[in-house]
Amino acid sequence: MKNIFLVMLALVIAGTGIVFAMQNKPETMNKEGILMDKKILIAYFSWGGNTKSIAEKIHNTVGGDMFRIETSVPYPTDYHEAAYGVAKKQHEEGTKPELKDNGDVSAYDVVFVGTPAWWYEMAPAVKTFLSENNFEGKTIVPFITHGGGGKYTIAEDMAKLAKGAKVVASLVIYENGGANAQQEVDNFVSKL
Ligand SMILES: Cc1cc2nc3c(=O)[nH]c(=O)nc-3n(C[C@H](O)[C@H](O)[C@H](O)COP(=O)(O)O)c2cc1C
Repeated sequence: MKNIFLVMLALVIAGTGIVFAMQNKPETMNKEGILMDKKILIAYFSWGGNTKSIAEKIHNTVGGDMFRIETSVPYPTDYHEAAYGVAKKQHEEGTKPELKDNGDVSAYDVVFVGTPAWWYEMAPAVKTFLSENNFEGKTIVPFITHGGGGKYTIAEDMAKLAKGAKVVASLVIYENGGANAQQEVDNFVSKL
């Protein structure tokens, strides 16, 4: 009798554990809130790879499609030439550089838009992406990587360029987020 009781107790504990694990697995979290039953696009610009790696982590967690924003004329691979040459000039002149492909957000409800902070604002290529697409009725989730300056007014600027979009809270990551990046992404996503 005692053995039967112990077996039943073990089954109840194991069952509770399984239910708890199912409730907390990422797929379940992602289907809640603004992401529930939504078509998701993760669009990002990345020069050095940090924003790309965060985009991939978001994709691990929420699924959906990915789109890399690239300029028709690539940026120099040398940091000094890219940062203090082309990018600084584009920042000062408010350039929206031509893209290889403007992308198409029409099939999506929620668009994660990723950018590095470049000269205190979003990268110029992301300005082009936001201006060249119709965001009417869509939700934008900004994600920003930076080298210490933080998020600046990038989310507000995105809202001005992506007319008709609802821009929600931003995920802001220092450089590539280090070892805790996936955890940071998951915490952020679970609150959406
Ligand atoms: C052209 C350029 C401008 C930058 N300007 C800033 C800035 O204004 N503030 C800041 O915190 N970091 C700045 N950084 C650092 C980047 O935001 C940071 O390293 C980011 O994670 C790079 O993302 P990526 O590897 O996807 O290109 C700049 C980097 C570059 C190349």
